[in-house]
Amino acid sequence: MALTHSGKSLPFPQHSLLFAPLEGVTDPLYRQALLNLYPEWSRFSTDFLRIPSVGHYSKKHYVEHFGEELYQNSTAREKTTFQILTSPQTNLEQALADLHDLGFDHLDLNLGCPSRTVNSNKGGAYLLSDLPTLETLLRRIKKNWPHVFTVKIRVGYRNDDDFSTILKIIEQAGIDAITIHGRTRDQMYKGRANWNYSKIAVESVNIPIIGNGDIWTPSEVRQFFDLTHCYAIMLGRSAMKTPWMPKLLSLGPLPQEEELKIRAQELKIYYQKLVDEFTLAKLSEPIILKRLKSVSRNTVEDFIDGQAWRSQLLRSMTLEHFFKVLNETVENKPCPFRPALIEDPIHDLQDERACQAQ
Ligand SMILES: Cc1cc2nc3c(=O)[nH]c(=O)nc-3n(C[C@H](O)[C@H](O)[C@H](O)COP(=O)(O)O)c2cc1C
Repeated sequence: MALTHSGKSLPFPQHSLLFAPLEGVTDPLYRQALLNLYPEWSRFSTDFLRIPSVGHYSKKHYVEHFGEELYQNSTAREKTTFQILTSPQTNLEQALADLHDLGFDHLDLNLGCPSRTVNSNKGGAYLLSDLPTLETLLRRIKKNWPHVFTVKIRVGYRNDDDFSTILKIIEQAGIDAITIHGRTRDQMYKGRANWNYSKIAVESVNIPIIGNGDIWTPSEVRQFFDLTHCYAIMLGRSAMKTPWMPKLLSLGPLPQEEELKIRAQELKIYYQKLVDEFTLAKLSEPIILKRLKSVSRNTVEDFIDGQAWRSQLLRSMTLEHFFKVLNETVENKPCPFRPALIEDPIHDLQDERACQAQ
C-alpha cells in the first residue's frame, strides 16, 4: 500500500474499487448485506454523519451510525471509512476525540454535499466557496486526528474557478487522499461528471486521487484509470446498480451480451439475498419492499423498455410482484446495446468551459 505524503498508508491498495457513501442507502443493514454478498469491494463507507452545531453526540450515537453489529466485527471495522459532515461552529474536537476513543482510524470529510440546508449551515460543498474557512477546518481536524484523514469534494461551488486552489489547500493541510466527484455543487447531478478533473488533480498535487462520478461499466472503470492514472475509483449509483462490479472486472473485458447475461443472473441473486438479509434483521415486508425499490434506481435501464419496467417495479405492492416484474424484465427483455448516458464520457474540459462562458 502506498504511503501518503503525510507518511500514512491508505487502508486500501492502488487500483481499488471503493463503494461510495450514499445517504439513505449505505446504512448499517445495507453495508452488512454488501459485506456478506460482495466482499470483493476494497472498502465501504458510512454515509455522512452531521456533527451537531449545539452540544455533542454520545459515543453510542457514533456506534449506531456505523452499525452496532458491524462495530463488533473486526473485518467490517477494517474495511469501512467513517464519513462526517461538519461546519466550523461545531464542537469538532470533542467529536474527533470520541471517534478516536471508539477505535475508528479512517475519517472522511464530506465537502461535496449539495443540500441547501447543509450548505446554509456552512457544511458540505459550501466550504468549497469559503476557502479561508475550509483551510482552518482542515487544519483543525488534522491537529486533532492522528489517523488517516481523507476528503471527498466536488470541483467547486458555483464553478470550477477555485479548483486548483482547493487542491493546493488540501495538499498543504496534509490530507491523505482526495475523492473527486467531477461536478460543481451547482451542477447537482446534471449532465455527466467530468473525468478530466481527476486527471488534472493527479498531475497537479502529490496526494492519492480517488476518481468518482458516472463510471458505470467495467470498461469505463478501465478507461477512467487509463485516462487519469488515479489511485483508486469510487462508485456510487453504479455500485448500487452493479454491486458485483469487482468480480465482473476481474473477469477481464467481456462482450456486452455476456455482461448483460451476468446482469440478468446476478440481479435475481442480489435482490433475493437482500431479502434474506433484511428478513434476518426482522424487517417487515413493506419495509423490505421499500428498501429494494430504493436500490433499484438504475437497475433495469439496460433492458428494453427499462423506464417502463422501472416504474412497474416502483409500483409493486408486494415482494412477490416486485420479483415477478424483475424476472420478466431480465428474462424477456435483454437489450443488445446499453443506452449510453451520453455519447462521449470524456468531455474536453476546455470545450466545457467555453460552453459555460457563452
Ligand atoms: C442517494 C445518494 C446519496 C448520497 N449520499 C452521500 C453521502 O452520504 N456522502 C457523500 O460524500 N456523498 C454522497 N452521495 C454522492 C455519491 O457518493 C457520489 O459522489 C455521487 O453519486 C457521484 O458518483 P456516482 O456517479 O458513482 O453515483 C450520494 C449520492 C446519492 C445518489
